[in-house]
Amino acid sequence: MTAPTTEAPTLSGKKFFMNFPVTDDSHSLAAYRARGGYQGLTKVLGGMQPTDVTKEVAASGILGHGGAAFPAGRKWGVIKLNDGEPHYVCMNADEGEPGTFKDRWLLECVPHMCLEGLIIASYALMGRNAFIYMRGEFDLPYRRLQGAIEEAYEAGLLGQNIMGSGYSLDVVLYRGAGSYVCGEASAMLASLEGKKGWPRNRPPRLTVKGLYQKPTVVNNVETLANVPVILTMGAAEFKKVGMPRSPGTQMISISGHVKRPGVYEVEYGYSWEKFIYEDCGGMLEDKGLKCIIPGGVSTKILDANELKGVNLDHNSAVAAGSQLGSGGMIAVAEGTCMVRLARVIQRFYHHESCGQCTPCREGMGWMERILDRIVRGEGRPEDIDRLYHISTANDGTTICSLGDSAGYACSAILDHYREEFEYYIKNGRSMYDGRLTVTDAFEGVEAAPLYAAVGAQS
Ligand SMILES: Cc1cc2nc3c(=O)[nH]c(=O)nc-3n(C[C@H](O)[C@H](O)[C@H](O)COP(=O)(O)O)c2cc1C
Ligand code: SF4
Repeated sequence: MTAPTTEAPTLSGKKFFMNFPVTDDSHSLAAYRARGGYQGLTKVLGGMQPTDVTKEVAASGILGHGGAAFPAGRKWGVIKLNDGEPHYVCMNADEGEPGTFKDRWLLECVPHMCLEGLIIASYALMGRNAFIYMRGEFDLPYRRLQGAIEEAYEAGLLGQNIMGSGYSLDVVLYRGAGSYVCGEASAMLASLEGKKGWPRNRPPRLTVKGLYQKPTVVNNVETLANVPVILTMGAAEFKKVGMPRSPGTQMISISGHVKRPGVYEVEYGYSWEKFIYEDCGGMLEDKGLKCIIPGGVSTKILDANELKGVNLDHNSAVAAGSQLGSGGMIAVAEGTCMVRLARVIQRFYHHESCGQCTPCREGMGWMERILDRIVRGEGRPEDIDRLYHISTANDGTTICSLGDSAGYACSAILDHYREEFEYYIKNGRSMYDGRLTVTDAFEGVEAAPLYAAVGAQS
C-alpha cells in the first residue's frame, strides 16, 4: 500500500487558487491581501458601473462550477437592475454531491477570495444583502468563512459604505442540516427562508422570483471565487487560460482507488489520463483502471477506453459521453463489483429523494430494493430490464434533476457492465467475489487528502 504523500506534483500550468503555500494563517485577511487579494473589489468600487462588471464576467466565458456549467455572466445579465426590487446573490456552499469536496478546500484555504467574489457579484446585481448556504456538516470551512466575514466587517470590506465607495452590503452565513437536495438552488432558497427544503418547478425562474420572491442569483462557491480573478486580470487574459469553450481552471476532488487522492487545480484542457496515471499516482496496487465517475455520482461513468486521449474540459467530457459535473471524480479499479457499486449509489439517491415526485420517490426505492435483491443472490433475469425501465421513467418527469441523474448513473453502469449483473443474477454471487472489493481497496489508506495543483500542457 502506498503511503499518502503531501508533496505536490510540480507540473506547470495556470493556477488561480492553489498558487501559494498553505500555512496556519494563509487564509487570513492579511495573507490574502499580501497575495493581491481584494484588488478586484478595489477596481470594481473604484469606478466600474454594475453593468460593466456583469459584462466583464460574461466576456470571460466562465461557466458555473456547481454542476450544470451554465454561463455565469448570462445568469447575472437576466437581473433587471432598475426594477425597484431588492436583488439577492446566494453562494451555494452545500457541496453534497458524493465525491465532491473541492469547495471545502476553497472555503478553508481562500475564504476571502470566495467572499470577495460574493461582494463583487452583489455589487454587479445591486444587492444590499447576500447569503451563503453552507453544508451543515462543514466545521472548519464554517469557522474559516465566519472568521473571514468578521475580518471583512472590521476592515470595512463589508457593511456600510464599503471602502468609502457608498456601496453597502451585509452577508448572512446560514448552515443547512445535511440534506443533499438542499444543494438544488430552489430547495436551497426555500430552506434559507426556513421552509422545508423542497425544489420547485420553474417558471418562474429564480432570477425572477427567488429568495423571498425577489430576483436571486445562485452561484457555486468556485464560480464566485473566480470572480475576483476575472476582475483583477481582465476577461481577455482570463480567456487565455484553459480552453476556448471552457475557460479557466477546474478544482477537482478525486477519491477512490488512486494512490494520491485529494484536491487538485487543473487547467481546462489537461490530459485526463495524465492526471490519473501521473498526478494522482495511478491506481492502488498498480491495478488497472476500470472506470471513473467523472463529476460526482450524478454523472455517467466513463470506462478506461473512453478516457483515452480525452481532455479535462466540458466539451471533451460531453463528447466522451459524460460531464465534468461538480468536479468530484471517483476512480474505480479493475476488480471492483459494479453491481455493489450501483447499489451504494442507489441507496444514496433513495435516502435523499425529497419525495415530491412519484417517479423519483417510488422509483428510487424500487431500484434500491431490486439491487438489494440481486446482491443478496436472489436476483431475477427480468431485473436488469426493470432497472432500465425505472431509470428512464424518471427522465424529464421530475421537478429537479435528482431523479434524472439517478437514472443516468444507473443506466450508464448497466450499459457498460451488463454482464456483471447477468452473472450475479445467474450465479447468486458477484463475478468478483474473493477478489478486490471497494472496501478492501481502502483498507490501510489513511485519510490524508493531498492538496495539489496541476496545469495544462502548453
Ligand atoms: C440534487 C441537486 C443537488 C445540488 N447540489 C449542489 C451543491 O451542493 N452545490 C452547488 O453549487 N450546486 C448544486 N446543485 C446545482 C444548483 O442547483 C445550481 O445549479 C448551482 O448552485 C448554480 O451555480 P453555478 O451556476 O455557479 O454552477 C445541485 C443540483 C441538484 C439537482
Ligand atoms: S426529483 Fe426527487 S428530489 Fe427532486 S423534487 Fe422530485 S422527488 Fe424531490
